Amino acid sequence: MKKSLVVLLALLTAASLFASGGSQSGGSSSASSGSALIGIAMPETTVLRWVKDGNSLKSEAEKRGYRAELQNGNGDQVLQNQQIGNLLTQGAKLLVVGQLNDGVASAISDAARDKVAVIAYDRIIQNSADYDYYITFNNFKVGQLQGQGLVKGMNLDAATAANPKYITYFAGSPTDGNAFFFFDGATSVLNPYIEKGVLKVVGPAPKTSKDTAEFQRIATEGWLPNIAKNRMENLLTGDARNVTLDAVLAPNDTLARAIIEACLADAKYARKLPVVSGQDAEAASLAMIKSGQQYMTVFKDTGKLAEAAIILADQILKGVANPTVPGAVLASSIGLESIGDTGKKVVKAYLLDPINITQDNWKEPITAGFITPDEVAANGLQ
Ligand code: GAL
Repeated sequence: MKKSLVVLLALLTAASLFASGGSQSGGSSSASSGSALIGIAMPETTVLRWVKDGNSLKSEAEKRGYRAELQNGNGDQVLQNQQIGNLLTQGAKLLVVGQLNDGVASAISDAARDKVAVIAYDRIIQNSADYDYYITFNNFKVGQLQGQGLVKGMNLDAATAANPKYITYFAGSPTDGNAFFFFDGATSVLNPYIEKGVLKVVGPAPKTSKDTAEFQRIATEGWLPNIAKNRMENLLTGDARNVTLDAVLAPNDTLARAIIEACLADAKYARKLPVVSGQDAEAASLAMIKSGQQYMTVFKDTGKLAEAAIILADQILKGVANPTVPGAVLASSIGLESIGDTGKKVVKAYLLDPINITQDNWKEPITAGFITPDEVAANGLQ
């Protein structure tokens, strides 16, 4: 009896997935069928936060009486564009899009043609003049927090030119505009130490993301952990062979863990790992912060970002001329308008505040409800 119920449920789930074209959830919702449809297009599932972002966006939209349809591009821009096309066909009135790369621009111009508003979610949609709104965190500050964390973790203020510290750099995907801001925020903190001669960069050493050739060498296409792990392994037997690294600038947690894995396989770092930064407050990294293997992460409460995005969506759909979002500031009001520059126009960019997490406050993302009880149990975070 119990078994047949399980089988029936599995069949029903499969059928509804099939009917909704492989989306993560059906188009139907508890809201009335007359309410407007919000289409949600998320980029990938390798980095866990994007799964959470999608689920939060859907529930925030439904909470406010909208219908919501959630799609995930699984790291494939062609697929994401098809999904956006389907959302438009289904009559979505507004799209929330976390892009993969600027190949998304054609799908966004289709939305503009259909007079469907688009909110670029967390990542700016580059090379497009066909949308008006962007909501994200203060990405420059994310990088500053990473830089400050590394300074503290290495005790860099006590270093001397005779006895300098050694660092190596990793950046995020060059297809993701955020990766440039993260890096520039971090080097804005680290560069003065390099100039004083107390910090040495091992391997490629761009001063800013505008050192394009050098930046490409430290960038991690698609934010893929295997790429970072391979690069770290090569560094350890190559450029970093004759030094002991004190720190690694890692742009997010998924890559931080891949880098730490490579270090752990090297006898030189068996007793003392380099100080490694991160981002996203992933449960697996919180566990490593708790145990001291990863030094810090940056907590971006994506539940709050999703809520803010839907508050913005609600005002846009209601025709409010200058929407305001509680808890977010306009980038232009704090001199960071470049965050909203698509290369073709400057969109209204709303910024939320990221939070620094170390061994002192690793529980904060759990208290905020960002980490689920299942994740707490699975990662020994009690
Ligand atoms: C960025 C995002 C980061 C991280 C990364 C990898 O755009 O801002 O938080 O998740 O993508 O997916």
